[in-house]
Amino acid sequence: MNACTKCGHQIEGRPNFCPNCGASQTYDRSVGDDHLIGRLIDGTYRIESLVGQGAMGRVYQAQHTTLRKKVALKILRSSLVGDTTVVKRFEREALAASRLNHANCITIYGFGTEEDGDLLWMAMEFVQGRDLGLLIAEESPLETRRILHIMGQVCEALDEAHSAKIVHRDLKPANIVCFDHRRSSDFVKVLDFGIAKIIDPDENYQPLTRDGIVCGTPAYMSPEQVQGFELDNRSDLFSLGIILYQTLTGQLPFFADSAVEVATKIVIEQPAPPSQVRPDWSYPPELEAIALKLLSKKKEDRYAHALDVKDALDECLRRLEDRHDPSLEMRPDELAELMQDSSPRLEGASTVRIDDAELRQAQAAFRSAGKKPPPAMTVPTPTPTHARPTPQVQPQLAASLMSTPTNARRQDPGGSNRVTAIIVIALAVVAAAIVGLIAFN
Ligand SMILES: Nc1ncnc2c1ncn2[C@@H]1O[C@H](COP(=O)(O)OP(=O)(O)OP(=O)(O)O)[C@@H](O)[C@H]1O
Ligand SMILES: [Mg+2]
Repeated sequence: MNACTKCGHQIEGRPNFCPNCGASQTYDRSVGDDHLIGRLIDGTYRIESLVGQGAMGRVYQAQHTTLRKKVALKILRSSLVGDTTVVKRFEREALAASRLNHANCITIYGFGTEEDGDLLWMAMEFVQGRDLGLLIAEESPLETRRILHIMGQVCEALDEAHSAKIVHRDLKPANIVCFDHRRSSDFVKVLDFGIAKIIDPDENYQPLTRDGIVCGTPAYMSPEQVQGFELDNRSDLFSLGIILYQTLTGQLPFFADSAVEVATKIVIEQPAPPSQVRPDWSYPPELEAIALKLLSKKKEDRYAHALDVKDALDECLRRLEDRHDPSLEMRPDELAELMQDSSPRLEGASTVRIDDAELRQAQAAFRSAGKKPPPAMTVPTPTPTHARPTPQVQPQLAASLMSTPTNARRQDPGGSNRVTAIIVIALAVVAAAIVGLIAFN
């Protein structure tokens, strides 16, 4: 048993993620006398070191000897190599994946079987970055804009594959690597397209396992996948929903101690809305709605295409920008904390007009709190009655720091005097009327 590096949960086996909190797990990958180190593959790739291992084999760093270029070499488990079905599928899937041509899809340089038939290999672009699982574990909660940026690129990569009739089948944070590229941060590469199909179970096998190998990663599988039904692109969209849910909560929507229990939950259990799981993180409801739609049990209820999801994410971004939602740039935990601090001052607020001086004052307050100032000039402020700050409520944060009913009153010191004067006049009129009536009688 290993303990999760993040939450301490006792983990059975060596899964890539903690079944409790979803944090990426790394294990001692020292292989001691790995006989492949130093070996020349296909007369071209010199294996230098082990990068890591997954269910189907190991990934090595290698050198393309003529191009002097660093590459990643995936070597399939030797137990798979003797199976002619696996070898045929490997060649078919590797060929299909090598035809993908998109900046967010990993580039495959070549693949093959070694002459003596003892190993199946695939050479690909070496990606130096952090997989999304690690990013979620180390930096959660991520800012909304960052989530939208990463997920949008995953959608683009999926669209490239789906257009080529490739279903990824093993979409999970470990297969999404993020890195900084020129001026762009969080540039995404999606790895392992179609590779899971190589060990796809035949009808003679249980849906989840084959030769002791878990096919795909149960926690990220779609209901149709765990039941062994035919898959289309919408299965990947369910997996995408799990990943999005994980970014919004830091947790998996369906977790249990065994793969079969996880699978059962995937088929029958409705996921708890992210805002209930993490009420202390404030994400826009639009984003939560996208995650829950992706997690629909019936594939017809999900989005039809990856680009439809991308459109929904873009629309979400547009709306948040339009209402100058501070959650775009702020970590939702910090935002929620600030909201809590300021919410009592917002009681009864409706719409607050902010002038330049107030805006500057608010921006200074944001800066001194180490936050990026919101650019809003007019902030609609619905009554903050929700337990969890929602985006409609979030502008109140800006409003509360800029102009609140309290300081609005402070800017109008004569206001209460005017009310008193009106009451005195009204009383005087009534008294005069009564006196008049008495005198008249
Ligand atoms: N092209 C690559 N460049 C750099 N590192 C890579 C590349 N492909 C895979 N890796 C790394 O190698 C390790 C093993 O990857 P592998 O795909 O075998 O397993 P996995 O994706 O973690 O799990 P699974 O076998 O269930 O897919 C991972 O840490 C992964 O980040
Ligand atoms: Mg992988």
